[in-house]
Amino acid sequence: MTQPSVLVIAHRGAKGEAPENTLGAFRLGIEQGCDAIELDVHLSKDGEIIVIHDFTIDRTTDRKGVVHEMTLSELKQADAGRWFSSQYEGERIPTLEEVFDLVPPEVMINVEIKDSYDRKLEPALAELMKRKDRVHNVVVSSFDHKSLLFLKLLLPEAKIGLLYEINPGSHAGLATGFGVPVYSLHPNFKRINREDIRDALSKGIQVYPWTINDEKKMKQAIEKGASGIITDFPGKLRKILTAWSQ
Ligand code: G3P
Ligand code: MG
Repeated sequence: MTQPSVLVIAHRGAKGEAPENTLGAFRLGIEQGCDAIELDVHLSKDGEIIVIHDFTIDRTTDRKGVVHEMTLSELKQADAGRWFSSQYEGERIPTLEEVFDLVPPEVMINVEIKDSYDRKLEPALAELMKRKDRVHNVVVSSFDHKSLLFLKLLLPEAKIGLLYEINPGSHAGLATGFGVPVYSLHPNFKRINREDIRDALSKGIQVYPWTINDEKKMKQAIEKGASGIITDFPGKLRKILTAWSQ
């Protein structure tokens, strides 16, 4: 049997085994054979695109503060690895530009916009994607669909992915009725079934459910035909996919 064509998407890097959204977590995901990396972005006080999940640095660093109220140099003083394990002491909060420089072009990057910051983040992101030649191997997703529309206006070639929590009724319809081309749907895995996935794929829309960490659920998602799986354990998923073909 051939290996199913399912993208292994490392959630915040290899989040299960390394401090989330750090270069260390992205390196580990790549070492474990991921096809793509999912990460979250905010804007610093001085306009840098910062890779971090929360609005504050409290949970994932040794300091406290609101990301958007801090400058890049203030953010860089925080240790973003020690809270996870001493092995990762010295990790810093990365900028998106640093991640673009680290990740080889064949590994796709899924940039999740956490906040638009009054529509200041999208122009900065469009500029960075163009300058770093990352227009074609980046998918930008967000729960804030207006943010994605704005990005498409600024950068029509950008690939956008709709993130959503609830069951929209017709998953494919969410994309086809969006008004601009949608590259991918990013549903909560609990809320999508095989027919929904097939319907989306038949309309040329990729389906990347999140966040699947359990082996049994990974196998279910593969059987349901997901185009990619967002997981904290990319190494585990890679092993399942390799074994599938043997
Ligand atoms: O992009 C999928 C997933 O990351 C969305 O939720 O909270 O992990 O960013 P969260
Ligand atoms: Mg995310």
